[in-house]
Amino acid sequence: MLKKCLFPAAGYGTRFLPATKSMPKEMMPVVSKPLIEYGVEESLQAGLSDICMVTGRGKRALEDHFDTNYELEHQIAGSDKETLLTNIRQLIDSCTFSYTRQREMKGLGHAILCGETLIGKQPFGVVLADDLCINADGPGVLAQMAQLYKQFRCSIVAVMEVPEDEVHKYGVIAGQAISDDLIRVENMVEKPAREEAPSNLAIIGRYILTPDIFDLIRDTQPGKGGEIQITDALMTQAQLGCVLAYKFKGRRFDCGSIEGFIEATNYCYDKLYAH
Ligand code: G1P
Repeated sequence: MLKKCLFPAAGYGTRFLPATKSMPKEMMPVVSKPLIEYGVEESLQAGLSDICMVTGRGKRALEDHFDTNYELEHQIAGSDKETLLTNIRQLIDSCTFSYTRQREMKGLGHAILCGETLIGKQPFGVVLADDLCINADGPGVLAQMAQLYKQFRCSIVAVMEVPEDEVHKYGVIAGQAISDDLIRVENMVEKPAREEAPSNLAIIGRYILTPDIFDLIRDTQPGKGGEIQITDALMTQAQLGCVLAYKFKGRRFDCGSIEGFIEATNYCYDKLYAH
């Protein structure tokens, strides 16, 4: 059973400076809700209610966001503003939150390994909160993947087709199609040059991982950018056993970029807020 979801959230968010100088990038609001809250909602919807965050220096706002703010609640009690907190109150009540810190920026693989102490020996989800995923017509992306996990019991990465001139921004996979939306991974490269990319199927920030991944990460040498890459550990896992890539249903916004963030803001305002 999948219960835990890991949120690597130690990165600096330099593309959003000066906004992220003293505020975690995961707290950037898309309309009035921080990115991290969208991620936690998606996790809870998938049935993963044990929220495990890998944070770092300057990220305390994340912990405070998922806690009670007595002073504020006292101030607005009984006013019409109170309804604005209904959603986050329910979310906090429905989840548990645990935190650990990544002290050095050594890559996504390293960040995930830092989470081992919170995850233990069980399969788990991973959500990169700056990839905002919305499926207006059905279950969220993590819920779709959790459903697949029940059937296949192996690591799964979410993928989408991207233009060839963008493959260098992503982990890119190739493999054997099992069905229209499922591929058995045979090759996986982190941020390849266009001419070295095995396909245009890019990994986005949603993973289901089996716990043997921790030992594989420990054995993974620094790769692209001198960092420990989850993509490299997953490639080993694919060679030893099975890793699936899933073409998810829904939209993904790259909220780690200014353009993607603005696109997400406009989309969410139209879909979720404007009446
Ligand atoms: C990370 C992963 C990459 C993946 C991407 C998805 O890269 O290393 O494989 O495609 O997330 O957003 P980052 O964007 O953190 O550099």
